[in-house]
Amino acid sequence: MTSHVDDGGDHSVGRSLIAAEAAADESTVEAALRPRTLAELIGQGRVRDQLGLVLEAARSRGRPPDHVLLAGPPGLGKTTLAMIIAAELSAPLRVTSGPAIQHAGDLAAILSSLAEGEVLFLDEIHRMSRPAEEMLYMAMEDFRVDVVVGKGPGATAIPLEIPPFTLVGATTRAGLLPGPLRDRFGFTGHLEYYEVDELDEIVRRSAQLLDVPITDHAAREVASRSRGTPRIANRLLRRVRDYAQVRADGVVRTKTAQAALDLYEVDEEGLDRLDRAVLDALCRRFGGGPVGVSTLAVAVGEERETVEEVAEPFLVRRGYLARTPRGRVATPAAWRQLGLAPPADAAFGQSPSLFDDP
Ligand SMILES: Nc1ncnc2c1ncn2[C@@H]1O[C@H](COP(=O)(O)OP(=O)(O)OP(=O)(O)O)[C@@H](O)[C@H]1O
Ligand SMILES: [Mg+2]
Repeated sequence: MTSHVDDGGDHSVGRSLIAAEAAADESTVEAALRPRTLAELIGQGRVRDQLGLVLEAARSRGRPPDHVLLAGPPGLGKTTLAMIIAAELSAPLRVTSGPAIQHAGDLAAILSSLAEGEVLFLDEIHRMSRPAEEMLYMAMEDFRVDVVVGKGPGATAIPLEIPPFTLVGATTRAGLLPGPLRDRFGFTGHLEYYEVDELDEIVRRSAQLLDVPITDHAAREVASRSRGTPRIANRLLRRVRDYAQVRADGVVRTKTAQAALDLYEVDEEGLDRLDRAVLDALCRRFGGGPVGVSTLAVAVGEERETVEEVAEPFLVRRGYLARTPRGRVATPAAWRQLGLAPPADAAFGQSPSLFDDP
């Protein structure tokens, strides 16, 4: 991801405000805002109930629970839930990630040093190397790994027992996980985007923790522009707080929140400058499409990846844009969002088969 903005410094980059990925130095403030128990968690009712049951049952059996996979888009609470799982089990937590595990040996070192019942959080599990993945299969199933010593014909596999542990894997790309790995998780929690009501509660909770006075109405204003994502809600809250402190009396009121978010070019629906530029190019320049994503990216002066990963998912989710085999297409809602009338012969209206995902 290219777009990162920090908490204290440069506030001029509008786009990073609505990126769902964490900025490089957001981890401290995020840690402070994380709910610590299932009861404290806001939203994700289904996952919370399911997981609550899994943990309760394991506790009553006095054994580590099944391995847990947490799947969902960035910023919805996967890391938060992993920490909650360890806390609810009163178990120690070890944190690592797919990219950190280059060799099977890296994983063997971690696994063999786990304490009984420890929770191993493996973030971005889809980015683990193949050999490590195969070692993980065995560890998950049999609590055993084969450590290969030596090379070539003389190599020997030394079996190594590992204490029962619980793996919590997190991924934004569940589809990229090989079947055998997915099958070894006893429980998969699919995190969903949050409703405005839930984000509203999250904003008010965060405001309290950060000691930011905010009116209920202003909290709702922030929530409704947060693209269903707690990370974005918390980030917008911090920007709005800055604005209230510098340009107003320190209290976040609706007017202050609106002025701040307008300044950062995040509109009522959570669309930002790039989102609007994409819709604008799509409708005004390309007649609503279909147009290739690379062409669209050039038209808005951005990298293809930025358009594809930052702007598009939300535009698709909001029903403004469709990804079709022939290219990107504006929906009638996109035209209306720009204050334009959808053309009668818009590509969108022609053939339903256009909207099959490529
Ligand atoms: N249900 C929730 N209630 C309150 N705050 C939440 C909730 N879920 C997430 N948050 C907040 O949102 C921020 C991001 O959450 P988290 O880091 O868990 O997301 P993630 O799914 O791990 O994202 P990534 O895919 O980027 O790793 C955290 O600061 C956390 O405090
Ligand atoms: Mg995370």
